[in-house]
Amino acid sequence: MVSCSLIIFYIITLLINPILCYDTEGRIGHNSVIIHNRLLVFGGWKENETIDTYYSEMFYLDLTNPFDIKNKSWYLIEEGNLPVYTYLSAAIVSTLDDDIIYLIGGYRRNITTNKNDYSNLVYMYNYSTTRWTPLKVDNVTPRQEIMGVINNEGTIYIFGGSNAADYNVTAGTLYNDMQIFNVSTMFWSKLNIIYNFPSPRCAYTANILKNGIIVYLGGIEFDKGTFTNISEFISGYNYPSMKTIRLFDTLKSEWAQMNVTGGDDISPRAYHSSVLTTDGYIIILGGIIVLGGIEKYTTVSPKLAILDTNKDIYEWTIPASSNSSPILYGHTANLYGNYMICVFGYDMDNSDLNSQIYLFDISNYTWVTTYTPPPPITTEPTETNVTNVTTKSLRIGLGVAGGVVLIILVSIGVIVFKRYRTKPHTPILEISGTK
Ligand SMILES: *[C@@H]1O[C@H](CO)[C@@H](O)[C@H](O)[C@H]1NC(C)=O
Ligand SMILES: *[C@@H]1O[C@H](CO)[C@@H](O)[C@H](O)[C@H]1NC(C)=O
Ligand SMILES: *[C@@H]1O[C@H](CO)[C@@H](O)[C@H](O)[C@H]1NC(C)=O
Ligand SMILES: *[C@@H]1O[C@H](CO)[C@@H](O)[C@H](O)[C@H]1NC(C)=O
Ligand SMILES: *[C@@H]1O[C@H](CO)[C@@H](O)[C@H](O)[C@H]1NC(C)=O
Ligand SMILES: *[C@@H]1O[C@H](CO)[C@@H](O)[C@H](O)[C@H]1NC(C)=O
Ligand SMILES: *[C@@H]1O[C@H](CO)[C@@H](O)[C@H](O)[C@H]1NC(C)=O
Ligand SMILES: *[C@@H]1O[C@H](CO)[C@@H](O)[C@H](O)[C@H]1NC(C)=O
Ligand SMILES: *[C@@H]1O[C@H](CO)[C@@H](O)[C@H](O)[C@H]1NC(C)=O
Ligand SMILES: *[C@@H]1O[C@H](CO)[C@@H](O)[C@H](O)[C@H]1NC(C)=O
Repeated sequence: MVSCSLIIFYIITLLINPILCYDTEGRIGHNSVIIHNRLLVFGGWKENETIDTYYSEMFYLDLTNPFDIKNKSWYLIEEGNLPVYTYLSAAIVSTLDDDIIYLIGGYRRNITTNKNDYSNLVYMYNYSTTRWTPLKVDNVTPRQEIMGVINNEGTIYIFGGSNAADYNVTAGTLYNDMQIFNVSTMFWSKLNIIYNFPSPRCAYTANILKNGIIVYLGGIEFDKGTFTNISEFISGYNYPSMKTIRLFDTLKSEWAQMNVTGGDDISPRAYHSSVLTTDGYIIILGGIIVLGGIEKYTTVSPKLAILDTNKDIYEWTIPASSNSSPILYGHTANLYGNYMICVFGYDMDNSDLNSQIYLFDISNYTWVTTYTPPPPITTEPTETNVTNVTTKSLRIGLGVAGGVVLIILVSIGVIVFKRYRTKPHTPILEISGTK
């Protein structure tokens, strides 16, 4: 009965959205979200010495079917292109309507003109119609290299980020403000906080815990905020320690800093990924530390680490399987069922853009090569309620049954070492890699 309903649903979906197996290109700074049992990927950017490439297509992995990482199928959404090229932006599935994705911030380029275009800062995607719509939102300002989280009430939190003031590399600002977007009212505002605020930061990760606390990890800080030339930035930026963790309490609208004392040592990093498990563990993967100047960087250690947020003082541990992890940066990671699914980004082991899917089984902390979908749902649906079935299976798959906050992971990506000349639109970190 259940599987029959599901099959009917998927046949209908197939008829509505013509799809085809899709050959993807490697990229960094893209977005990935889980929506209706799909890992949906869009945006991102690739550059080589001659030309930058941006992407507007949307494609997905079907998470209801098993696959092997050597034999996976991406499907293209034929009529669902992005309205604008974007990278290092925030993409967030609404907790109030699981058909809706919000696209906020990031570097933006007009698809027709291929010029910087910040005319619409917030877009909404409707899964049913596969259409993007620009939203009229007052007060919103351009921000890049951000990650957003959403709570159960539909409030999105966006911390800091960067803004290349004139959208080229000569100057810019990093911010430390907390901005919120109420998706019901489309009201955007900046919280007025006077105590304990952190340094201006970008390229961090953010996860919101069940208790309403957002945990910010890694990234790049720049105390002065604004810089007017590259050397000023290089002389002033730093990578925050993974042991002084910035926390934002969404219930009290207060910042705090937690000083982690015990546990394993974790090197600082930016452009890494993080996922939050239902039982309160944050798993981070990869990232990079750029030291300024072309090809001056260090790899992060460990490659993979786990933060236990259930303890009064959080604690880092490094599982044995960290050694067999890939070193990616500018990738994304999403949690679905037992799997942390990591896609794209730059693979430092192979010195190339990554086009493999990496699967981390969070039940026993091992890297695996085959994906098995979570068990089907047990509730008995009626034929007319098949859409509810997929909604439920999504919730179970994500482990957020019971109305727990849905965590959205956003890609925060990148840097390319092989930069030969200064170009407009360059992400903040590239600045440090640019003569
Ligand atoms: C750079 O990218 C363009 C477009 O994808 C491609 O035609 C060209 O061969 C690439 N150059 C190098 C050196 O990889
Ligand atoms: C790859 O997967 C497809 C179905 O998705 C299956 O038909 C095919 O046999 C698989 N090929 C290999 C080599 O496993
Ligand atoms: C892109 O630029 C063209 C030409 O200036 C303009 O008509 C169009 O509205 C722009 N697209 C977006 C999404 O802003
Ligand atoms: C999404 O599209 C569906 C189908 O057209 C429509 O019923 C629904 O109201 C749309 N949602 C939003 C938030 O616009
Ligand atoms: C950067 O932007 C400023 C102001 O818009 C402009 O004067 C300058 O020429 C731009 N620099 C580059 C390298 O594009
Ligand atoms: C968002 O707007 C809705 C509708 O007006 C309101 O009920 C809710 O309290 C608002 N949320 C916040 C956090 O202000
Ligand atoms: C960069 O900016 C700083 C601070 O404004 C200034 O002191 C310095 O001379 C500038 N350096 C260059 C190379 O323009
Ligand atoms: C964490 O350490 C800093 C100094 O490094 C100190 O100012 C702060 O009070 C400490 N926070 C807590 C909660 O102990
Ligand atoms: C981890 O669990 C998966 C199934 O969830 C299993 O296939 C795999 O063999 C296990 N690995 C180890 C090392 O136990
Ligand atoms: C479908 O589900 C909704 C909400 O769960 C319920 O109100 C409605 O009666 C169901 N429809 C049928 C035909 O069972």
